[in-house]
Amino acid sequence: MKDILKAKFMREMCATASNMYRLGWDERNGGNISYMLEEREVAEYLDTEKALREIPVMGVNSVEADLSPLEGRIFLVTGTGKYFKNVEKDPAVNLGIVKIGKGGKSVRLLWGFEDGGRPTSEFPAHMMSHIARLKVDPENRVIMHSHPTYTLAMNFVHELDEKSFTHTLWEMCTECIVVFPEGVGVLPWMLCGTSEIGAATARKMEEFRLVVWAMHGIYGAGKTLDETFGLIETVEKAAQIYMLTAHLPRKNTIKDEDMLKLLQLFGVKNYRKDFLDLK
Ligand code: 13P
Ligand code: ZN
Repeated sequence: MKDILKAKFMREMCATASNMYRLGWDERNGGNISYMLEEREVAEYLDTEKALREIPVMGVNSVEADLSPLEGRIFLVTGTGKYFKNVEKDPAVNLGIVKIGKGGKSVRLLWGFEDGGRPTSEFPAHMMSHIARLKVDPENRVIMHSHPTYTLAMNFVHELDEKSFTHTLWEMCTECIVVFPEGVGVLPWMLCGTSEIGAATARKMEEFRLVVWAMHGIYGAGKTLDETFGLIETVEKAAQIYMLTAHLPRKNTIKDEDMLKLLQLFGVKNYRKDFLDLK
């Protein structure tokens, strides 16, 4: 068997966690990532039938979550209570590779969580989001949750309806509308680590790859770690520009007609027309 610490998926996961930490998005244990792996790529490194232990699917407490559509699927996932700061220097303690067990009520640990740890408390929200995204995009592999500073700050001073929140972000950087043309979903403040927030996030994920958890953080979904990171990074950049300018008189803006020109230039067809105010 090859050395799993040298696997491309492991190196990418470690680099992503380090980048998120370095950007100040993931203080302490804030944030979590789940990355769906192909059984054949994992089999180069591990016996995918050999479980080290069985772990019940849970959030902060035990939850009701039907993960049966993911039965047999394998995920590389961050551990609950683990610091993103430490992922790269000790992946085997801070990360785990789990296979969803029969009926989707527990997972089988194939590798990692060496100090007795378990998957993130947001595991139900991640898995429900994977189920939702796979229905609209069979190539979706990643769900990422984070606490990016300016996105959070913006939650305190901007209206939280999806049209207005998205429109402000689109106005802040020229390429925002091309990067997330479907907009950003927004959930009100809710208790985290529960199946309720998981189900609400998953419902939004049928429509959006980005879902803001008001006054908490953001969820992103994508085909790769890079794509998902890039989505959150672009929202965060736009939110930063908003927070740097919101208290100053606005002299200029990117107009809705300009956004339409961008969509046409980049050939983007699926965008939230109702989030634009076109004459
Ligand atoms: P975990 O440490 O359980 O992943 O929780 C972090 C977090 O951001 C909760 O929303
Ligand atoms: Zn969080």
